Amino acid sequence: MSATSTQELNIKTTDEDFLPLEGTDYVEFYVGNAKQAAMFYKAAFGFESVAYAGPETGQKDKVSYVIRQHKLTFVLTTSLRPDTLISEHVNKHGDGVKVLALRTKDAKDAWEQTTKRGGKSYLAPVTLSDEDGEVVMSGIHTYGETVHLFIERKNYRGAFMPGFRKWNSVFKPEGTGLLYVDHCVGNVGWNQMNPWVKYYEDVMGFKNILSFDDKDISTEYSALMSKVMSNGNGYVKFPINEPAEGKKKSQVEEYLDFYNGEGVQHIAIATHDIISTVTELKKRGVEFLPIPASYYEDLLDRVGHIDEDLKPLKELGILVDRDDEGYLLQIFSRPLQDRPTLFFEFIQRKGAKSFGKGNFKALFEALEREQDARGNL
Ligand code: FE2
Repeated sequence: MSATSTQELNIKTTDEDFLPLEGTDYVEFYVGNAKQAAMFYKAAFGFESVAYAGPETGQKDKVSYVIRQHKLTFVLTTSLRPDTLISEHVNKHGDGVKVLALRTKDAKDAWEQTTKRGGKSYLAPVTLSDEDGEVVMSGIHTYGETVHLFIERKNYRGAFMPGFRKWNSVFKPEGTGLLYVDHCVGNVGWNQMNPWVKYYEDVMGFKNILSFDDKDISTEYSALMSKVMSNGNGYVKFPINEPAEGKKKSQVEEYLDFYNGEGVQHIAIATHDIISTVTELKKRGVEFLPIPASYYEDLLDRVGHIDEDLKPLKELGILVDRDDEGYLLQIFSRPLQDRPTLFFEFIQRKGAKSFGKGNFKALFEALEREQDARGNL
């Protein structure tokens, strides 16, 4: 089924964009042990070491490791003390995403434009400088305890930003072909999807480019609703999910229970070669949702001709969907921490700009089997 059959994608650039964004600058995770998390993401995903901040750099109560692959940058942060906001965050939510940082040419203007439209300030504009130049940053709150930071780094040449030093590590694993953040999905509470859609429209000037109701996204047992928000140039896309009534518990509800509130459900990472990326990730221990062999029996009837051989797709559990503009290949990891909260999607787009609506059923049935095994369905 084509994901664009019921609604046209209306991504378009507009010269009236009051919040011009150049994409995702970085994603910051608050975790229980940043040193080990950085090691995990380097070993399993193939990130490079970029920068470090901690007591040795004058930051007394927390440590942060910055890792990167192509344009994808993660920051892993842990508190060194029990009575900090970071410790509270980890205690309440487990390891999770705190910051979705967005690249802008003018962080002061981004803050002024968004806060005057009703955005709640998280960080008033601040200029950080060192011998490599300056970074201006500001920020606003979004769903749950998640925040958006606006990062202006056009006048900075250092490894990451002032306060960090270059991290030279002897451990240099090969990359796995990860490129950049394709989209980043938030799970919000019952009846909260539309208020957050309005927030992204009013405060950040985003547009609702696709909507899925509970009939699009339901199995025999559970359901959810989703709306995809995009900025003007389409570089930043935030689908927002809320649970919907079904015979059993929605996967979004399970997330909300274990995360103790709203937060980032999954980060989709782009690759140019999903077969080699997933082959490598699996070899390094990354676990994916198993897809039944029956999914592949009539796949080509559903999506038409694709360039890839069916065999590796089936062996790896990669899903395929087509829309009016082309097709996409995607796969979903299991949660990356003990709580059934954050997971990753890996996606290769071959023309398609949609999100794999034709795979929702197979995907959610796979998720339900996992939910059931945890006793949470
Ligand atoms: Fe996704």
